[in-house]
Amino acid sequence: MWAILAQPNKENGGWNPETFFETGRRSLDSALERVGVSFVGAPFERALDFGCGMGRISQALAARGREVHGVDISEEMVRLARTYNQSPSSCHYHHNPASNLSLFPDGHFDFVYCVIVLQHMPPSLMKGYLKEFLRVLSPNGKILVQIPAERNESTWVHRCKDWLRPLLPIEVADSLRLRKQSGLPILEMYGIPRAQVEEWIALNSGQVLRAESDKHAGPAWSSYTYLIGRR
Ligand SMILES: C[S@@+](CC[C@H](N)C(=O)[O-])C[C@H]1O[C@@H](n2cnc3c(N)ncnc32)[C@H](O)[C@@H]1O
Repeated sequence: MWAILAQPNKENGGWNPETFFETGRRSLDSALERVGVSFVGAPFERALDFGCGMGRISQALAARGREVHGVDISEEMVRLARTYNQSPSSCHYHHNPASNLSLFPDGHFDFVYCVIVLQHMPPSLMKGYLKEFLRVLSPNGKILVQIPAERNESTWVHRCKDWLRPLLPIEVADSLRLRKQSGLPILEMYGIPRAQVEEWIALNSGQVLRAESDKHAGPAWSSYTYLIGRR
């Protein structure tokens, strides 16, 4: 749970499942409110929770619609999500190590949710998944996705690293960082400026309906929650 919500006082088993899943209900409510979406009286048919982790948000979504599919790259997260699944008949979890969503057909979902996930992958991967979110979205469906935009204070060291990183083979970049962090796990942060997100969405037959700033990427980054529909 701490790998998902790394609050300092919750390290080493500090989270308990009840309070952890309660944060999911609150996060979902505040994200929906931020972009002006309400499922009250109009529940969704089928939702995708991309990067579902232990199902913190999938479980909250399961109370608001007919069917939920949580997808995660980590087998262990999917195993834990299944263990904590309170709605096994309507909430399904999938392990998907692929850089696409080919496990789902076109237009399959009327709601796609993805918060605190894309920020940890390079922009080329983020863009690939955004394109996939639009592909699996039904004509009147909506995507709610959070993406950091840029660092608030970008020093010349940051700018050099950002420029160099995509040019280095991933093994070289990783071994440099592992040495710097004395072998501790690497938590990468990436962003895409808002104008580029809007351009990419438009290029892929989507439309940004709303963009609200949020604090998901921490104090060092500006970040937005986007509400996106099909054009
Ligand atoms: C910070 S956790 C957030 C989990 C969940 N969305 C929540 O709010 O509780 C990020 C999750 O994204 C998953 N993830 C990272 N890259 C992914 C990818 N390419 N495909 C699917 N899941 C991914 C990680 O395994 C992790 O479970």
